[in-house]
Amino acid sequence: MKNARTNQTLEEREASPIIHLKKLNNWIKSVLIQLYARRGDAVLDLACGKGGDLIKWDKAKVEYYVGIDIAEGSIK
Ligand SMILES: C[S@@+](CC[C@H](N)C(=O)[O-])C[C@H]1O[C@@H](n2cnc3c(N)ncnc32)[C@H](O)[C@@H]1O
Repeated sequence: MKNARTNQTLEEREASPIIHLKKLNNWIKSVLIQLYARRGDAVLDLACGKGGDLIKWDKAKVEYYVGIDIAEGSIK
């Protein structure tokens, strides 16, 4: 598929030399979304990639979500 990042296995992801940075980044996003998103909010997620933050937005009970990314393959 064009313009898509390759799908990593869990093992490949864990083997990344920057896995701790990725986990910290992910945790900070979770905290910020929980702090600032409100039930019923509408979200425009710019550079959403493959939707890696969808679960976070779902937990925050946003009502409406639009994700945009330059990589058509990631959106698909
Ligand atoms: C590190 S990924 C983050 C993906 C997602 N936000 C996440 O946390 O899972 C960065 C994303 O930015 C997208 N991107 C880069 N330049 C862009 C642009 N000019 N317009 C839209 N998306 C872009 C890339 O295609 C990629 O999916």
